Amino acid sequence: MTTIHENKGIFIYMQVIIKRTTAEIADLVSEKFVSLLEKKPKAVLGLATGSTPIATYEALINKIKAKNLPLEDVKTFNLDEYVGLEKEKYSYRTFMEENLFSPLGISSSQVHFPSEKTLSAYDEQIAAYGGIDLQILGIGSNGHIAFNEPGTPFESKTHVVKLEESTRDDNARFFDTPEEVPTHAVTMGLATILQAKEIVLIATGTNKQEAVRQMLSGVNSLNCPASILNQHPHVTVYLDEEAAGKLY
Ligand code: F6R
Repeated sequence: MTTIHENKGIFIYMQVIIKRTTAEIADLVSEKFVSLLEKKPKAVLGLATGSTPIATYEALINKIKAKNLPLEDVKTFNLDEYVGLEKEKYSYRTFMEENLFSPLGISSSQVHFPSEKTLSAYDEQIAAYGGIDLQILGIGSNGHIAFNEPGTPFESKTHVVKLEESTRDDNARFFDTPEEVPTHAVTMGLATILQAKEIVLIATGTNKQEAVRQMLSGVNSLNCPASILNQHPHVTVYLDEEAAGKLY
């Protein structure tokens, strides 16, 4: 399935791939990362946290180990990080250590997270490494990408955000108590994300149906930050049948 949108007189093709299982999606997306790493050992990877990429990271770990791919020249940039966390165990850095970096032996000198102390320096650092070659994204049930909540300007760079209550509720499952979910985070901006050379977005489950429908409706709206992806020339959207439920 390909959705075609006209944007400023240019037709944009968002490639949409619908699969039955998360495992099938993980296999396809991890394969994309592997072929990039085979072609470009100095690749710059844009990474996401949350439930969505976990299966892809597992598949990627298995494939990289099976092929014995060298990773010492890879650089990674994560989309976002919480602000004001009291316990390091909830940080996205810890999540990435557990789910990708440590199993692959990627060292702390190779990885980057945005911080409220540096902000625009994060965009500059990404640019200094030549830009992100492949960015993986999930999508929030409210249409956010990274932590760019509805209403975020399309030209935003890395910035601090106040999280919507719906986002805090969605993420409470990762915390011992809902009160521990931070109220703020620091995130790559929408303009930062759009600089990536290639983007893959994965959405699974019925709670993503409405966000996916809006993203693919062809209307670029601040109400659905993911709709900015219509302006990018190389995006592939991977959906399971549940997330694609409102497209038919
Ligand atoms: C996380 C991120 C978020 C998540 C989104 C979906 O780094 O950028 O935008 O991708 O909130 O989260 P999950 O995958 O947990 O449903």
